[in-house]
Amino acid sequence: MTLNKSFLVNRNSESSFSTLTELRDHPKSIEIQRYLSEKLTPERYEHVLSVQETAVGLALCHHADVWKTNLAALLHDVVKWMSDDQLYTAAANYEIELDPIEKIMPALLHAIVGVKYAIELFNITDLEILEAIRNHTTGNASMGLTAKLIYVADFIEPTREYKEAAQVRKFAEIDLDKAVHSVARYKIDFLLQKGWIIHPNTILTYNAYLVNITS
Ligand SMILES: [Fe+2]
Ligand SMILES: [Fe+2]
Repeated sequence: MTLNKSFLVNRNSESSFSTLTELRDHPKSIEIQRYLSEKLTPERYEHVLSVQETAVGLALCHHADVWKTNLAALLHDVVKWMSDDQLYTAAANYEIELDPIEKIMPALLHAIVGVKYAIELFNITDLEILEAIRNHTTGNASMGLTAKLIYVADFIEPTREYKEAAQVRKFAEIDLDKAVHSVARYKIDFLLQKGWIIHPNTILTYNAYLVNITS
């Protein structure tokens, strides 16, 4: 996928962003980007900006809401700076009920706690954006368009060097459901190879999108 920073991103939307630069220069984006650049490692921040660019490019291809996609991409790893202990403490403070796998897989918690931070720190109330943050790691069988874009963009953004990312990049602009299915499949393959636990939502995503693309 080749995405040019000056490409037109939202010609038909109510909002009038014409370039990725304009999106990044919006006061809300600047507020979030400033927070992220201070809290995340440089590598993580670069990843977030790459997800932003990739997701916005995909949003244009799939006629999605570019502004919502921009915010979801910026915020998807908003608490990735937290340690495992901080994530579990935050989850407890927010009285989040964790499922049995989330209780033993801290890597899953940043998506859950991130929703709370998006609401509290940045006043995000749009359910599509919050759903995208919530589901970006495991996926979900019934994701909305914004969530699907973030799920795929997080996997294929340009700094991802594994070969599976290159394979999904070939068709993500054309067939988003096929891309979602492939991401779930590759994640399951990876987790099986490692002998790690697989969250049921990842398997449900694999099944649901396999049905979608074959029916
Ligand atoms: Fe993440
Ligand atoms: Fe990410």
